[in-house]
Amino acid sequence: MMGTVFDVSRFAAEKTPFYYYDLALLGKTLEALNKARQKYGYHVHYAFKANANDRILEMIRAAGLGADCVSGNEVKKAIQLGFDPKQVVFAGVGKSDEEIIAALEFGIFCFNCESLPEIEVINELAAARGLVASIALRINPNVDAHTHKYITTGLEENKFGINPYEFEEVLTRVKDLEHIRLNGLHFHIGSQITDLTPFKNLCLRVNEINHWFLQKGYDLPVINVGGGVGINYREPDKEAIIDFEAYFKVFHDFIQLRPGQQLHFELGRAVVAQCGSLVSRVLYVKNGINTNFAILDAGMTELIRPALYQAFHKIENISNTAFADMKYDVVGPICESSDCFGKAVNLPLTKRGDLMVIRSAGAYGEVMSSRYNLRDETRAVYSV
Ligand code: LLP
Repeated sequence: MMGTVFDVSRFAAEKTPFYYYDLALLGKTLEALNKARQKYGYHVHYAFKANANDRILEMIRAAGLGADCVSGNEVKKAIQLGFDPKQVVFAGVGKSDEEIIAALEFGIFCFNCESLPEIEVINELAAARGLVASIALRINPNVDAHTHKYITTGLEENKFGINPYEFEEVLTRVKDLEHIRLNGLHFHIGSQITDLTPFKNLCLRVNEINHWFLQKGYDLPVINVGGGVGINYREPDKEAIIDFEAYFKVFHDFIQLRPGQQLHFELGRAVVAQCGSLVSRVLYVKNGINTNFAILDAGMTELIRPALYQAFHKIENISNTAFADMKYDVVGPICESSDCFGKAVNLPLTKRGDLMVIRSAGAYGEVMSSRYNLRDETRAVYSV
């Protein structure tokens, strides 16, 4: 499967750095996702945190996905862009009163709640407005996602979710809260999970927990299993669109839903990562003692993933398509040693002015950019 094709002549006039979004690829990704989810009747809320660029969000809304938000501003943006409030979920360990009030007034589908104190605050704020808040309990299933420790969320040691030993207490309390309606269970074990086994393990845990709640008299209409399915950073063109069919099939095969119970997902990375690339120019090539440095005009301020998670992103010189027989440390201009996109990267002979693309940057790229060093605002350019 072919990924993005870069038009060097089109980029010639553009001021670098910028994010380049291949909207045709996003469109095809959404089609593949919809085809696979519709086969099983599953609901998908797009995780706004992965990329909240308006053009991208508009395509996602038009494809009929819901919104998974983690701040009041994400909820507001979803509503402003026309996402149906009845398809908006709101998660996060630290929702402020102001954020809760805004979401209550929009009448969102569900608050994914992470603690009893949070549920009590939502109840109080809903009561003051004569509303009933629909909630799901975010459960910490203690399932290992086998991914980078900074993006693992479903282990007991993580700050997320409610632990099984707290269930009794939560249920006893929730029964008395008149402005809370418990309508589901929510899980999320981590991100960039490339082996499907952790999802199978999650299904088995969900079955146990779902059963436990049923025995307590709670036949909950919604099971939300979060997101986290990973993408191929090494070979973005070989796998420009992930195998959504195989991913959903794991849930179809292993999760036991009761009649009428709906399965919801919150996908971020798999929807948007491959359609985005960070495009920059080489400012200088500098020969070090043991290595050559290619110094770009993009840095960790535009894409922080390599510096923060030691993440790998494929780097290409699109100005010189000769064989990659040289090695460079590809770095940015920021005054931090961690401002490095890749060490000993195979590249062709690279010189000042060459256009470099850092691939698979559509998720957690633009949205995590900063203006550290008073850098310019991050720009975006679109394929159409
Ligand atoms: N649902 C919840 C509750 C989440 O915490 C996340 C991501 C998602 C859904 C979407 O996960 P995805 O499908 O995108 O894996 N900045 C990191 C990733 C942080 C993920 C945080 N939570 C990175 O650049 O790798």
